[in-house]
Parts: sequence; structure tokens; C-alpha cells
Amino acid sequence: MIKTFATTRHELGLLYRARPAMAGLLLLGTAAQSWSAKGSPVRKVPGIGWVTSDPVVARTVLRDHRSFTILGEGGVGDLWTQILGDWVPGVFDGPGHHALRSRSRELFTEAGSAALVADTWDPVLAGAGDTLRAGGRVDVARLARVLVGRMMVSLLGLPAPVGAGDAWPSDEDALDAFATGERLATVALGTAGSTRLSPGQIATARTIVEELTAGVPEGWRTAPPDRLLGRCRELGLGLQETTGLASLLMVAGTETSASAMMRTTALLVDTGEQHKLLARLSRADDDAAPGSLLPGEGDPVENAVREGLRVTSPASVIGRGVAQDVEVGGARLRAGERIMLLVWSANAAAGPFQADRPYVRETRQLWFGAGRHLCLGAALARAEIAALLRTLWGDGEPLRVVRRRAQRQVLIPAYSELVVTRA
Ligand code: HEM
Repeated sequence: MIKTFATTRHELGLLYRARPAMAGLLLLGTAAQSWSAKGSPVRKVPGIGWVTSDPVVARTVLRDHRSFTILGEGGVGDLWTQILGDWVPGVFDGPGHHALRSRSRELFTEAGSAALVADTWDPVLAGAGDTLRAGGRVDVARLARVLVGRMMVSLLGLPAPVGAGDAWPSDEDALDAFATGERLATVALGTAGSTRLSPGQIATARTIVEELTAGVPEGWRTAPPDRLLGRCRELGLGLQETTGLASLLMVAGTETSASAMMRTTALLVDTGEQHKLLARLSRADDDAAPGSLLPGEGDPVENAVREGLRVTSPASVIGRGVAQDVEVGGARLRAGERIMLLVWSANAAAGPFQADRPYVRETRQLWFGAGRHLCLGAALARAEIAALLRTLWGDGEPLRVVRRRAQRQVLIPAYSELVVTRA
């Protein structure tokens, strides 16, 4: 039974306040992991459709592009098609998607992401580090939103609005960009049972997309080729596709990253694992935990980042439509049905947060999905979380949480406030 609650009470509180019904489903999913030996790991839930929390089945579904689709009822592509238009299927699946992925890959390499994070965030992170060193308090929830908002503005190369001074974007501008993305994601809040949107929801979403992407036409014309909008232009993408891609990035890469950043911070403090991280960081040659780092994973911070992503799994569920009749995990699914992959449950079942937990083979990096739609921004997300953790713990001092508040009614669980200071 303990396994059902394989995370901290604060994490459970976040899940519950974000979406109570979904929290229930995710916890059931974790429990079902221990029962699945007794039956099929794929089950039908009234009002939801097929669900699974089995990591191997989830990956099978994500990699079977013939039988499952991101575009049909149940997939996020269905939402985007309704909001952005009928051109979406052409770039979200099939050859158009393949072409788009290969062209944008180089924008999100490990090295490129680290450089992007350093360029965009260093001054803000340095300020937060100074505050902590001086004995002050830092609201990591706000900081994460500011950082991620800045990243989006910089990544897209959005030009400053008319009248904005040299200081654009300010922290407030970054928070505004973040909040707009958050409002758009909130439109998807009621779609657990069906991805069909009402005319009202579509109208709201379109207004937000317009607001979010107001600077895209100018950026698409003038941004340098090393910025996403400039690159889209150079690659021959039209303004419509570029606008769609920009909105997709804004939504896919803002709340998810910010959620992982603040929640990993809280987990390190709440579980006491920060002491393990600090001890490992202080050992120059980290031979105390051989084998726990992935190849290419440079230090214990990257280990903690991976573990934070596993335990938080900010994209808690991934949906797919069933494109053709198929048998998976012993269940027979029919074309037109939907399946929900309880990614949080699959990942959480491996056990509680441990800063030095070795790579978990069953889940791999299911928090980023799998197959053709595997998160395009994975390297950037990891670099972002790592940069924050290095700022918070780089001086070798433990932290404590002074105050926190969970955010209510959001797609991605998050803190609205998480104030930390030196312990
Ligand atoms: C911790 C942070 C993040 C998490 C947990 C996450 C998770 C995911 C997951 C699970 C998917 C697959 C969805 C599906 O198959 O239906 C996905 C796709 C995607 N993500 Fe991320 N993401 C994160 C950060 C980012 C960032 C920072 C960016 C970009 C700046 C980004 C851009 C994308 C894009 C463009 C896709 C769609 C890829 C495609 O369909 O080919 N994500 N992400």
C-alpha cells in the first residue's frame, strides 16, 4: 500500500489541488502497477477510455504509430487541430512531422541548450544566488516562471513590443508571457474524457494564441537564423506554420519545465535528499556511486535532475487515439477508442525520490514520452532544471522551505509560491 503513495505528501497535495479527479486516477494507476500481475495492465475506465500505468505498455503504444495516433480523439494533436486549423495534421504526423523534426533538431542539442540557458538566465540566476548568500529568501515558484518566460521570449526571438525600453523583457514581461501560455493550457483542463472542444473553448483558445503570437510575424521576418523564428523562415516554413509551432513550444515547454524546476527543489528539501546531493557534490571524484550516472551525465546534479523528472513527471498523462484495431497488454482496443497513458504513475511506481537513484530501465525517460513525438525540448528542459539546482545548491549549503502554496485548477501541477532560504 505504501507503494501507492510513493512520493511526498506535498507532491500529492500539488496533484490534488491541480486536478482532484486526475490525482485519484494517477494514484490508482500506481496501485494498479502492483496488481497488474493479476490481470491486464490495460483497463477500461468509464468516461475515460482505456488506461495503463505500465511503462512497457506505454512505450509500446507511443512507438506503434500505425495503431495509435496523436491526431485523433484522445491525442493532443486533436486539440491543436481544432484551435489552429486543418493544416496541423500535416505537420504533427507523417512526412510533414518528420521533416519538421529533422529541421528543428539542431536547435535543441545538449550543447546548444546549455549555451542557451547560460546566455538567457545567468544574470537572473546570479541575482537569486546572491540573495540566498546574503541570507535572503527566494520564491522558486516565481523564479522558475520568470526564467522559463524569458527562455520562451529569447528562444523565439520575439521582438520587443512598440514602446518597450532596452530592459525588455523585464521579469514582469516574462511572467506575462508565462501566464498567457498557462491560460492556453488551461483550456485543455476539461479534456480528460474527450478532446472535443466546445465552440466557446475554441474561441477562447484562438484569442489567447493571437495574443501569445502577436510578435511572431515581425520575428518571422526579421529574427536572425539562429533563433527559432528566423530558422523557420530560412527553412521555408510559412507564417501560419511558424505561428503554430511557436504556440506549441510556448505551451509544451513552459509549464512543464517550471513545474519540474520548482517541484524538484521542494523534493530535494522535503526528502532530505539535498544532503546526499551536497555530499556527492563536495566529493571531487564521485566514485561513491559508480554506475548511477548515465553516459554523458556529467555530475550528481544531472542525476538529481533525472530523478526529479521521474518523480514529478509534469506531463502526467499522454493521450492517444486508437487508429486501427489492435491488441496491447492482452486487451483488444478498437479503432476510434482512446487510451490514456498514466505516465506519472508508471514513473512514480519505481520508488520515492532518491538523488542518487540509478537510471531506471523500465521507465527510461517516459516523462518525455517516447517514439516519434518524444519531447523535442528534452535537452533544454534538463539544462534548465540543472542550472536552477546548481544556483540553489552550488555553494554547498542546505536550504529550507519557508512558505509554500499549491496552485489550484491547472493542467500541470505547480506551486504558486515556494519560498526558500538557507537552513
Ligand atoms: C520538464 C519539462 C518537459 C516535459 C516533462 C515535457 C514532456 C513532453 C512529453 C511527454 C511530450 C510528448 C507528448 C505526446 O507524445 O503526446 C512532449 C512533446 C513535446 N515537447 Fe516537451 N516537455 C518538457 C519541456 C519542453 C521544452 C522546454 C520544450 C521546448 C522548448 C518542449 C517542446 C516539446 C515539443 C515541441 C513537443 C512535441 C514533439 C512532437 O510532437 O514531435 N518540451 N514533451
